[in-house]
Amino acid sequence: MGKTLTAKILAAHLVSGSLVPGTEIGIGIDQTLTQDSTGTMAYLQFEAMDVPRVRTRLSVAYVDHNTLQCGFENADDHRYIETVAAKHGVVFSRPGNGICHQVHLERFGRPGWTLLGSDSHTPTGGGLGMLAIGAGGLDVAVAMAGGAYYLTMPKVCRVELVGKLPPWVAAKDVILELLRRLTVKGGVGRIFEYGGPGAATLSVPERATITNMGAELGATTSIFPSDEATRAFLAAQQRGCEWVPLAADPDAVYDETVTIDLGRLEPLVAAPHSPDNVVPVNEAAGTRLDQVAIGSCTNSSFSDLYKVAKILEGKRVDPGVSLVIAPGSRQVLGMLADCGALGVLIRAGARILECACGPCIGMGQAPRSGGVSLRTFNRNFPGRSGTPDAGVYLASPEVAAASALTGMITDPRHLGAPPAVVGDDAAGRNAGDNLFVFPPANGNGLAVVRGPNIKPFPRAAKPPAELAAAVVLKAGDNVTTDDIMPSHAGLLPYRSNIPHLADFCFSGLDASFPARAKAAGGGIIVAGLNYGQGSSREHAALVPLYLGIKAVIAKSFARIHRANLINFGILPLLFADPADYDALAAGETLTFAGLTDQIAAGAALAARTADGRTVSLKLEVTPREREVILAGGLLNLAGKGGGVHA
Ligand code: F3S
Repeated sequence: MGKTLTAKILAAHLVSGSLVPGTEIGIGIDQTLTQDSTGTMAYLQFEAMDVPRVRTRLSVAYVDHNTLQCGFENADDHRYIETVAAKHGVVFSRPGNGICHQVHLERFGRPGWTLLGSDSHTPTGGGLGMLAIGAGGLDVAVAMAGGAYYLTMPKVCRVELVGKLPPWVAAKDVILELLRRLTVKGGVGRIFEYGGPGAATLSVPERATITNMGAELGATTSIFPSDEATRAFLAAQQRGCEWVPLAADPDAVYDETVTIDLGRLEPLVAAPHSPDNVVPVNEAAGTRLDQVAIGSCTNSSFSDLYKVAKILEGKRVDPGVSLVIAPGSRQVLGMLADCGALGVLIRAGARILECACGPCIGMGQAPRSGGVSLRTFNRNFPGRSGTPDAGVYLASPEVAAASALTGMITDPRHLGAPPAVVGDDAAGRNAGDNLFVFPPANGNGLAVVRGPNIKPFPRAAKPPAELAAAVVLKAGDNVTTDDIMPSHAGLLPYRSNIPHLADFCFSGLDASFPARAKAAGGGIIVAGLNYGQGSSREHAALVPLYLGIKAVIAKSFARIHRANLINFGILPLLFADPADYDALAAGETLTFAGLTDQIAAGAALAARTADGRTVSLKLEVTPREREVILAGGLLNLAGKGGGVHA
């Protein structure tokens, strides 16, 4: 029986387990990436393992999220990351060099290699034929120390692409179509492996747009084959020697198959407030806009922005709209400047932002109260833009550019003939790499600089033998990591300062939560389906840990957040009977008799309420995860000298 591309890469990196869906596997990691908002904590954790030098083939620390320096805090974080990177052999990408995923695709991604990143859009690398997975910072720290990454073997879903994209229809519409069909939960426990004749018609940046937003499906990752398009992209990066052909065997067997006829797609938009709230652009057409934002790790390649320039050429942005553009990398910005497209964008009225995440993470350009923003980004959850009551639409660069001209959501097909596409592999490259700092061969003797914003992080203790704790919060379905630990501009500078962040935990859902949790000395959170969806931010586990949260009881968990809870010693418990969710009230106390014995004994746990009801629970973990929980978190197993649980 032939093998999928996923199985080939996993088999080449397998450390433990076998490739049976639903079972735990451990894989070796070739490369890691961090960004600054998760990176400070990842490096603090790496330091705690006392490993002198990273043991990956390559590790890169990007600074792209939090590049506004309005106080000392960000600068402290950046200096810490730069110095800890130099000491331990990590490449440092300075602020302004670009968004981690775009830069990594350009300069470091390699077909067939594994990449673990402390950012949920790490699967962007799948556009280049990498197996690229987003994880919590501690998992990335363990990988840097040479440890394996453990995951539940996903199902492999073939996405068969046939046909060719019609004019004005973009790669963004491919992934929006998949989100429309499958929803934000449709990719959970799956790897999407793209193939078919339609895949060959897409460039690497187009593929990367699709694999990037596989994260919004909840997928473990997404991957394209490595073919002639991949070779052309790498050659343009002066990295042609790193190309290898990779594809599934013709007779590969998949767990599931989805077919998309590219030729039948039309321009789509995701309406507020979820990436799967997808409608044809015509259904939203005419919606007045305050802002159009183009960029993010989803759509900020040279070819994306060149297309935008061609659409805007010789025209003016509608005066009622603020058009902001954040190129994905300094290389993209340089190429736009070299070919004249940057001047076209400026003359049309665009505001050019730094090559960084910027508005995607609410770092500048928050819309006005009640405003409407159309963005080429990947997320439109309430508050993500920095304005709680803003309405954010997601769309392709083509729809964004057409809409910027009219001031309202506009079907770009009304503009006539589409602009000629210039691929990222066609124009001259500007790969100066002058905002990278490559580490010295030996970091011994180098000092790590820790400003006052770098605070110690909380360490979990082993679970108590007996536990009686109150339900300090009852939340609904689809709680995001943003809900748990908001990341707006006012808080981003404090990613290395957990005590400060703790006062804002769940502040959007229940502002009294931190005080209540502190007064109770911790407690239990109860939630509905898909708890912890969204970004990989481990602060959504670390901060509750700091507040003393012992367990989250939910109907289901998002993959990365579940792993983060386990890594930090918080029990991720499932309701055996979802009806118990309705019966449990905030403030009730749950008592777990013989908690550690129950954890050690197996999957079934039971708690009792004060009025004597029994709540049946499940702890669905692997033997390794059970060991981590009983140890009080992964760091307690990652001993001195990098004795990581591998
Ligand atoms: Fe940055 Fe937004 Fe991507 S925060 S990494 S551009 S999802």
